[in-house]
Amino acid sequence: MTKFILVLALQIFLLTAVVSIQDGGDFARTMNRKQLNLHEKEKLTHLLFYWHDSVQGRNPTAVRIKQPVSNSTMFGSMTMMDDPLTTDVYRNSTVVGQAQGFYAGAAQGEISYLVVMNFAFKTGEYNGSTIAILGRDPVLSSKVREMPIIGGSGIFRLARGYVEARTKLSNPKVGVAIVEYNCYVLHY
Ligand SMILES: *[C@@H]1O[C@H](CO)[C@@H](O)[C@H](O)[C@H]1NC(C)=O
Ligand SMILES: *[C@@H]1O[C@H](CO)[C@@H](O)[C@H](O)[C@H]1NC(C)=O
Ligand SMILES: *[C@@H]1O[C@H](CO)[C@@H](O)[C@H](O)[C@H]1NC(C)=O
Repeated sequence: MTKFILVLALQIFLLTAVVSIQDGGDFARTMNRKQLNLHEKEKLTHLLFYWHDSVQGRNPTAVRIKQPVSNSTMFGSMTMMDDPLTTDVYRNSTVVGQAQGFYAGAAQGEISYLVVMNFAFKTGEYNGSTIAILGRDPVLSSKVREMPIIGGSGIFRLARGYVEARTKLSNPKVGVAIVEYNCYVLHY
């Protein structure tokens, strides 16, 4: 009899424990990866395109929304961009998407930007998919700048990886820059 009561008490205790875990906990659940097709191995995709930034002239693609506190390092500046991404270094080559975001002068000893941008693709199977970049871009001191890919959407959902940026042309006088981007993306 005592044993029975003990078992009953234990059962009631466990039941209350389960109920209290579920209390306020039913907004989240563990899922099976298969339901979202996330059980397959990740793919590694390489993308190569050219980023065209133009802050002056008749059709600027980027706008300085905050002037720097130092013209030599660009520290404190902020530039918002909607820059075309093309298949070749020439501006007249095929546009595959836009780089939308900003770069901000983030270093006091050199020109180095905090880059926050989405590559928004608009061709073929990539139309509507995006890759999110957040990184450090010391434009003058490094020939190759590596920046992390911190996520994506559409085809690039749950993406991770990195990009390599190489300046192909930079003319601060006329406010034009062309940068080659090699992207290495892991995604499902
Ligand atoms: C930076 O250069 C611009 C244009 O020459 C000038 O108007 C501005 O006052 C300069 N800013 C500083 C902080 O020196
Ligand atoms: C694109 O621009 C390059 C360099 O300015 C030029 O040599 C080429 O002829 C242009 N191509 C077309 C199709 O306009
Ligand atoms: C990309 O998708 C948009 C929105 O669905 C559509 O309007 C556009 O025609 C598509 N572009 C291409 C090249 O498929």
